[in-house]
Formats: sequence, C-alpha cells, structure tokens
Amino acid sequence: MIIGFHRIDGQICCDGIALEAIAAEFGSPLYVYSAAAIEAAYSRFDRAVCNGRGVVHFAVKSNSNLAILRLLARLGAGADIVSGGEMQRALKAGFAPEKIIFSGVGKTDQEIEAALEAGIGQINAESLSEVERVLALARNMGRSTPCRLGLRINPDVATDTHAKISTGKSDTKFGVPAAEAADLYRLIATSGVIEPAGLAVHIGSQIMDEAPFEAAWIALLDIAEGLREDGFDVPMLDLGGGLGIDYRDGTPADADALGAAVTRVFGNRPYRLGFEPGRYLLAEAGVLLTRVLHSKPATEKTFAIVDGAMNDLIRPTLYEAWHRIEPVSDTAGAVQPTDIVGPVCETGDYLGLGHSLPPLQRGDLLAVRSAGAYGAVMRSNYNTRPFAAEILIINGEARPISVQQTVADLLAQDRIPPELQ
Ligand SMILES: Cc1ncc(COP(=O)(O)O)c(C=O)c1O
Repeated sequence: MIIGFHRIDGQICCDGIALEAIAAEFGSPLYVYSAAAIEAAYSRFDRAVCNGRGVVHFAVKSNSNLAILRLLARLGAGADIVSGGEMQRALKAGFAPEKIIFSGVGKTDQEIEAALEAGIGQINAESLSEVERVLALARNMGRSTPCRLGLRINPDVATDTHAKISTGKSDTKFGVPAAEAADLYRLIATSGVIEPAGLAVHIGSQIMDEAPFEAAWIALLDIAEGLREDGFDVPMLDLGGGLGIDYRDGTPADADALGAAVTRVFGNRPYRLGFEPGRYLLAEAGVLLTRVLHSKPATEKTFAIVDGAMNDLIRPTLYEAWHRIEPVSDTAGAVQPTDIVGPVCETGDYLGLGHSLPPLQRGDLLAVRSAGAYGAVMRSNYNTRPFAAEILIINGEARPISVQQTVADLLAQDRIPPELQ
C-alpha cells in the first residue's frame, strides 16, 4: 500500500482509496486523514528525535479528535494538553493519566483540581502566581497526588515563524524568565506539597531551523545543571514541540537534524527528555476536500469559489499560511493565477491566494494539502456553517470519526428568552 496522499492513475488517493470516491460518499467540505501516515510520522519522529532517550507527548491542541488520540495512545504516545477539556479528551481516548502533561499559561482552579484529582503526570506552571495556586490547591486536597509540578521557562529566543505562533521571546506571555526560574523551582522543590517534575520550554510552532531549538535547550540545561549542583532533583526536561513541515512541496521536515541537535545539547546527560510534537505528526496526514461551486474570472486572475471556507480551515486567514491546493482528478489546461475562496462574507475568507491551477469547473474536487494539524480543531460555525465531517482511512476502510453536524444542531444551541416569545 502507498501510505498517505498520492496521485495514482490521475487521481489523488489516500492509502490507495480515491478521494473522489470518499467525497462522493461523505460529501464536502470534508477532512480526510490517513492512520498509516500518522503512524509513519510517529515512527519517524520517535526514531530520529526520541531515539530511546525521550518520549512523545502528542500536542492534543493540533488535532483532538478522539479517534486520532486513541490511535496515538495505542502507538505509545503520551499527551500534552492545554485545557480541562483536552484532559477529558485525552483520558477518554485512553492515555494513561501519568502520561499526560498539562501545559498552558492560564489554568483555572477547576482545571488544576481536576488534573490533581485525575493524577495526571505533570502540570507545567508558567508564573509565580500559578505555582502558588497549584501549591495551595494541592495542599487543600489534603492527600498526596502522583502529579508533579514542572516549570516552563521563557528562554528569550527568536524564531523564524509567524509572530502569532512564536512563544519563546521575552515579550510573549509564555513561561518564566530564565533568571527567575531557579528560585521558583526551589519554591516547588521545598514546598513539601508536590514533587518537582523538571523544566519545560516551547518556543513556538512551524519552526524549520534547529538552531533556535538548540539555543532554547542550552538555556534550559543551564538552569537544570545549576539546580542539580545545588542538590535539587530535575528528573525531566520537556523540550516542547514546534518542528515545522514544508507546506509548499510536502517534503517532511528534517527530524534527523532535530535529533542531532538533541545529541549535541544533551549527550549522555542523565535527564529524561520529553517532546511535544503536534504538527509534525498530523499535518501531512490530512487533507481538506472542497468542491468548486463557481469559477469567476476577474482582472488578471480567476476566483474558484469553493464550498470550504475560513470557518473550516482558518490557517490561511489567521497566519497567512500557504497550503498546496490540487485538483483531485487530473485536469487539463494551462495553469492560471487562481484565488481559492469560500462563501463566507469576508474578503479574508480564502483557502489560498495566487495559486497556479488549471481552469476549474463547477463540481471539481480540490484537495487542500497538509491540513491534518490545526485544521478541523480550529474550525468554527461562523455564518451558521456546520462543521466539516472527518474521515479516517484505517486498514483500507473510510471511517467517519465525527458526527455530521446539521444546521438544526446549531439552532438548538440558542435560547430565546420568555420576554421575546
Ligand atoms: C506547550 C506546547 N507544546 C507543544 C505544542 C505543539 O507544537 P507543534 O504542533 O508545532 O509541534 C504547542 C503548540 O504551539 C504548545 O503550545
């Protein structure tokens, strides 16, 4: 079987199944994922980056469908979560509580209590205020918890990624400054309430170059070594996620280069390492299928107006992100500049601007590639548009992994008060 999305006899297929056939059965817009491609990406990352010295905690925020989570849990991954809702998803999907790390800059008391109750492996705090809150809540529980408390540092490292997903500079809200980290860690370690987990860092997402990772990890290691010299236990270094993928030509990012950076920084040092990849594991394993509603010529370009929109895939609008977009069936004709736009009433509603595509007709099916991460999970019901359904190709079968939402489902969410009846 050819794994993932490939053109076979003029048709893009997922794990050998024609996308046209899947869209004919399940409609559009539609997300389609390949379980085999997720497994392959997981193995690649595990081999190249973890390499026996660390574990993957899948970043649930990148795709939190329960079927996807179950698949990754079965592969042996842990989970990195950023909300109480994601914790419930991770537990329901089958991640062992001790393999869950709770990241994020603002956890509510209820979320912290729920995490302590569930006995998740680790909470990463991101401020003095949050450390104090976790300690107070853990103390109130009046019994020991297997949960450990880690500290996310902000290494003040710049990245070449989009400003909205860059998290490692000192002017972002994330982590504690490196200079304050040791004192805060000592506070946790001497609290007598909760065991220290270690240190964490995450400098952003869609990062293609290993240099900023390396700089951040060196800063983290520096603090860890200082703490160890002072006699504190620093069992785990959580090195975050962020490895980017090539959205333009589909070449996977260089996991080997990241693995080499891990070796350079940590060598044989006695730390357990954790990694939190999201995008790398999921992005290439999914597409958004969308059908052309109208083709409309304009000055020096054509608009392909499609049934998918910014509410289905917000990345192009939110991050100026580029996704490859291809006709699913081979289409003849000279390519021309084409904007692929949705039906939502905003000029910012597009899936791609300035693509070179052959002439498109009403009914043509397009594949928006590399949409498996930060795609369906960021969708909305803007313009009262039901969510696109999701299909997982697994063992040669196309399985729905979400219920098809209807407009009736959306209307049922609202309440008209008695005064207006
Ligand atoms: C704390 C944390 N870990 C991991 C990730 C996953 O990043 P990526 O999907 O780029 O690997 C994120 C996302 O930005 C994050 O905030």
